[in-house]
Amino acid sequence: EKILERGKEALGDLCKFLRNHVSYYDWVGFYFVEDGKLKLGPFVGEPTEHVEIPFGVGICGQAAEREETFVVQDVSKETNYLSCSPKTKAEIVVPIFKDGKIIGELDIDSYSPSPFSEEDRAFLEKVCELVSKVV
Ligand code: SME
Repeated sequence: EKILERGKEALGDLCKFLRNHVSYYDWVGFYFVEDGKLKLGPFVGEPTEHVEIPFGVGICGQAAEREETFVVQDVSKETNYLSCSPKTKAEIVVPIFKDGKIIGELDIDSYSPSPFSEEDRAFLEKVCELVSKVV
């Protein structure tokens, strides 16, 4: 139980670190697969009503179903989208794999338009690889 609590704290710290160091990362959080759904884990930013997301639904659910990073540079053009804040302009969702299976994802919302580069993708995929080793 204590180890779980510390793990959650560490992931929350990681969210804070990412948000504090990258100006265009405005909401940073983890979702974990539980009972075949995505459930909200540690996050920083505005509270969201999307605490449970089925596979296939929204940008998070689509990334989970496809098992690949999903970058949306303009959320107003995405029809399968769950809005967390009207300020959000773009979103990147990176899956976390363990033993070849998706166990969760890192979700980042940006209030800036078209903010994500190939460097963001590569960096965040690396972060998720590291996270998968400690969860
Ligand atoms: N926008 C996401 C939902 C999660 S909130 O952004 C935190 C989606 O479309 O799946």
